[in-house]
Amino acid sequence: MLENKIALVTGASRGIGREIALTLSRLGAAVIINYNGAKERAEEVAALIEENGGRALAVQANIAAAEDVEKLFKEALTVFGRIDILVNNAGITRDNLILKMSEEEFDAVLDTNLKGAFFCMKYAAKLMLKQKGGRIINISSISGIVGNPGQANYCAAKAGLIGMTKSLARELGSRGITVNAVAPGFIETDMTKGLSEQVREGMLSQIPLKRAGSAEDIAQAVAFLASDHASYITGQTLQVNGGMNM
Ligand code: NAI
Repeated sequence: MLENKIALVTGASRGIGREIALTLSRLGAAVIINYNGAKERAEEVAALIEENGGRALAVQANIAAAEDVEKLFKEALTVFGRIDILVNNAGITRDNLILKMSEEEFDAVLDTNLKGAFFCMKYAAKLMLKQKGGRIINISSISGIVGNPGQANYCAAKAGLIGMTKSLARELGSRGITVNAVAPGFIETDMTKGLSEQVREGMLSQIPLKRAGSAEDIAQAVAFLASDHASYITGQTLQVNGGMNM
């Protein structure tokens, strides 16, 4: 389904990003696995892909730093020559109630989750405009749609990502580039591992499908949006949340 495609997934050494990288690779894409600190884990993902007959490259870059993103795209281009699919997955949380939230906590989340995606889209758009085609998929969150107490920074970034998705869908559509967002609900990963049993139970009680989502649930939605099957879909936010929000 994605044969001869080159995909770049940010924050792909673990969790949802790792699963997206593995899924896109299984469908035939060569995958650039971006990581910030977890070199070994990222190289393990690349090795796993290669063991299964795929092509992969692990590249270090802090996506919140413009010069790192420039280096990331340069390295990816040197090896693969083009980028057909960009998945902006890297994200962090620094939760706190508004009265306690520091400027650093606010900035850190905005810098990674929103500005990082902006930097990556800027470079990807330049290439995709030349290539006259491409797919950009931004991993937003249910929190960016319905809000969440203690996550003013995270919700602002994730809502911002949805706005940016729509703007770019309008800007790039005439060149065959689609830009969509996926908004996961409650997904079992390292990011949600630390939640208390009470919060977990509270979340599950709001999910009609009565289970937390898996990284694979998100990866399958991303794979669909990255494929030719989704060529007439742009500017949309696909909610993958077991019905938690409708
Ligand atoms: P995770 O914490 O397991 O993975 C996030 C990845 O991003 C990590 O590999 C981390 O190293 C990387 N990363 C963080 N800052 C980076 C930077 N500056 N440069 C490069 N890489 C960086 O989290 P998870 O759950 O896999 O989340 C993936 C995405 O899905 C995030 O954007 C998150 O906000 C979003 N999401 C997750 C949900 C969940 O329930 N787990 C729900 C809704 C959205």
